[in-house]
Amino acid sequence: MFLCLYDKYPIARGTQAALISFKPPKMADNGVLPVDKLTISDTVEEAEFSQRVLIKSILGRSDGGAGLAGKTLKVGGWVKKGREQGKGSFAFLELNDGSCPANLQLIIYSDVAPLGQFTPTGTCLHVEGVLQMPPEDKQGKQSIELKVSKVLDVGAVDPAKYPLPKTRLTLEFLRDYVHLRPRTNTISAIARIRNALAYATHTFFQKHGFLYVHTPIITTSDCEGAGEMFQVTTLINDSEKLEKELIKNPPPSQEDVDAARATVKEKGEIVAKLKSDKASKPEITAAVGELTKAKENLSKIEERFKQKPGIPKKDGKVDYGQDFFARQAFLTVSGQLQVETFACALSSVYTFGPTFRAEHSHTSRHLAEFWMVEPEIAFADIEDDMKCAEAYVRFLCQWLLDNCLDDMEFMVEKFDKNAINRLKMVASTNFIRLSYTEAVTILEEAVSKGHKFENKVEWGIDLASEHEKYLTETKFESPVIVYNYPKGIKAFYMKVNPDKKTVAAMDVLVPKVGELIGGSQREENYEVIKERILEMGLPLEPYEWYLDLRRFGTVKHSGFGLGFERMILFATGIDNIRDVIPFPRYPGRADL
Ligand code: 4AD
Ligand code: MG
Repeated sequence: MFLCLYDKYPIARGTQAALISFKPPKMADNGVLPVDKLTISDTVEEAEFSQRVLIKSILGRSDGGAGLAGKTLKVGGWVKKGREQGKGSFAFLELNDGSCPANLQLIIYSDVAPLGQFTPTGTCLHVEGVLQMPPEDKQGKQSIELKVSKVLDVGAVDPAKYPLPKTRLTLEFLRDYVHLRPRTNTISAIARIRNALAYATHTFFQKHGFLYVHTPIITTSDCEGAGEMFQVTTLINDSEKLEKELIKNPPPSQEDVDAARATVKEKGEIVAKLKSDKASKPEITAAVGELTKAKENLSKIEERFKQKPGIPKKDGKVDYGQDFFARQAFLTVSGQLQVETFACALSSVYTFGPTFRAEHSHTSRHLAEFWMVEPEIAFADIEDDMKCAEAYVRFLCQWLLDNCLDDMEFMVEKFDKNAINRLKMVASTNFIRLSYTEAVTILEEAVSKGHKFENKVEWGIDLASEHEKYLTETKFESPVIVYNYPKGIKAFYMKVNPDKKTVAAMDVLVPKVGELIGGSQREENYEVIKERILEMGLPLEPYEWYLDLRRFGTVKHSGFGLGFERMILFATGIDNIRDVIPFPRYPGRADL
């Protein structure tokens, strides 16, 4: 039991918010929440806020759109493939608007408009036409096509200059065109899967009574204590601006300052003399006005005289007191510490936002900017934390099976034949749980049986990606939760176990990706966590507010962070994390 000292507690008793109580909805036996399937409408409606019908609302129907034959409607999209036929009398155009992976076939005759402008890949078209059944011999591929009667708008493409020709392009090549790559089948399928996973994330946590909290992007505390933060400063810009300004407008010399001081002195003496001579009020007022002007001029000259090019320094160090926030600031590596403040008042909360790490990692699993989903649960221990992580990951997998099957089928065809099976397996299997000590024993056994790892295996090591892969892909072929890690390799905020050697940390490892989730029970004991901060060589001052959560009304609580892009890698089978975020940032690259 933890006591709160009222006389030290900075928030008055009457203003404390009552804890929110809630009843989480019942989950199915497999630990996954039931999902309402999206139903396909029987009528075709114009897309809201846009002058056309979504291609998905035509081709996504259970009859493939056949029942809509005869309807006149407008569609818009980009040509994937176009070919003129019948000696140039008509053209077939495959149109995609991103609402689904499938293309709608358009047929357009040369009496409607000259055909050559429509066929290049990438052309944007907004057209009106009539849906019709294609001729019987062509019905295999298309259940419906649109015969164009009117071209409303064309966004033309010069095929000689368009960087994304029809040929299959590598994902690596497409990274040089992040502004155009959403038009490719792969990047658009990933975008829809990513969107579905974000929606599923909010659905899962909202259904379980979690409150969404926006944590700051700019922070003054290093959550992981690993010093891999990007600094936020205006000192460099300011100093560059000042340098330019000083060249254009050179600073005053010591003589200029002395002259301005002499003027102030002279004007002061005039005022004094006028006063002692009992001069008239208007005369004195005029002289005081002159003195004030001289003083203002002096302070401007003195200020400019003090301005020195370069970053401001104090006692030989950078003077952050002159920076934008009057202290050092960074981009967040995790919203955890801040979201804990809300968990310690509103119980079950989560944050979902971008996080930034200045690690010089060039791996296919690391980004400098990535998104993290971080729930934080009050009155929860490491067991509850593991249960929540497992239910959430399984929910995400089931959601994709229920809502994104067409895109997942595309992934199976083009990238990873196991992708759907993997989702099914995870959605329906209990995760293996192992203590870190057990995991190391299994790895040691593998070594003794001749398995070669590049990194040494012994108690105390941080598990390398090859070890994680061995556990999830070779040994268990299933997601694995490893818990109770040595405290020396984990962050300061994790709860120290009674053995004093390990902390109540847990990582969820999955095939293909390795670490998907990192989490822990938090150390809620004030003395212990203070000791841990010092032990790790971190300064106490920036964490004083965090310690307040333990000083006042401390609560047992736990949470975790799921790397959102790693989840997309796991779901899609895509190999490189740079291809599952719209605008990848990694060492040497931050396009757009
Ligand atoms: O294990 P991590 O570092 O945990 C935390 O940041 C905790 N504060 C989370 C919490 O308890 N609220 O990061 C969590 C997850 C990792 O498991 C991994 O999936 C992902 O974030 N991750 C990265 N993803 C892409 N690029 C990087 N550089 C990543 N670093 C971590
Ligand atoms: Mg981790």
